[in-house]
Amino acid sequence: MTTIISGTNRSGSNTLKLSKYYQKQLALKGHISEILSLTDLPDTLISTDLYGKRSEAFKIIQEKVTASSKFLFIIPEYNGGYPGVLKTFIDACKFPESFFSKKSALVGLSTGKYGNVRGVDHFTGICHYVNMHVLPLRIHIASIDKEFDENGNLFKDDTVRFVNQQIDQFLLF
Ligand SMILES: Cc1cc2nc3c(=O)[nH]c(=O)nc-3n(C[C@H](O)[C@H](O)[C@H](O)COP(=O)(O)O)c2cc1C
Repeated sequence: MTTIISGTNRSGSNTLKLSKYYQKQLALKGHISEILSLTDLPDTLISTDLYGKRSEAFKIIQEKVTASSKFLFIIPEYNGGYPGVLKTFIDACKFPESFFSKKSALVGLSTGKYGNVRGVDHFTGICHYVNMHVLPLRIHIASIDKEFDENGNLFKDDTVRFVNQQIDQFLLF
């Protein structure tokens, strides 16, 4: 199973919008995926699901992670890096089996100029630490607020081309 991790719990995020776009593009290429949005994490996560504890709500999420062999992480830039809630999610997942020897592709986005270059770089190090393979082609989408049309689709030629290339490589990875 392929799971798209929408890497923030902010409601109304561009991250979830971009996750849905990737899911749609994967489907157009005949590949079914699921979105795991960090908005679905239990509100109590830090008290109920870290350091050996496990809530009923997180069990369902853990099962989805365990059943996944490939992950597409969509990662917004927050204060020059990736969101703390994404690291908390990784810390809450079972180690090492959640991500060990699995495959991933990373996408950064921001309203600023850099498309989360630093956050995606840092997150790549975390992926390697948990023994996950990372697709070398990582995408950074800057000025994300100017990238979607009214239907939630990317429309700029360059962005569409790079995303399409990444998806093709991810499917072969
Ligand atoms: C807590 C927080 C910190 C942010 N820090 C940055 C930043 O350092 N650089 C930047 O370009 N945008 C920053 N943004 C704006 C996000 O890049 C922007 O909201 C974008 O749409 C991706 O985040 P979203 O998925 O939450 O919408 C920040 C947003 C939040 C909520």
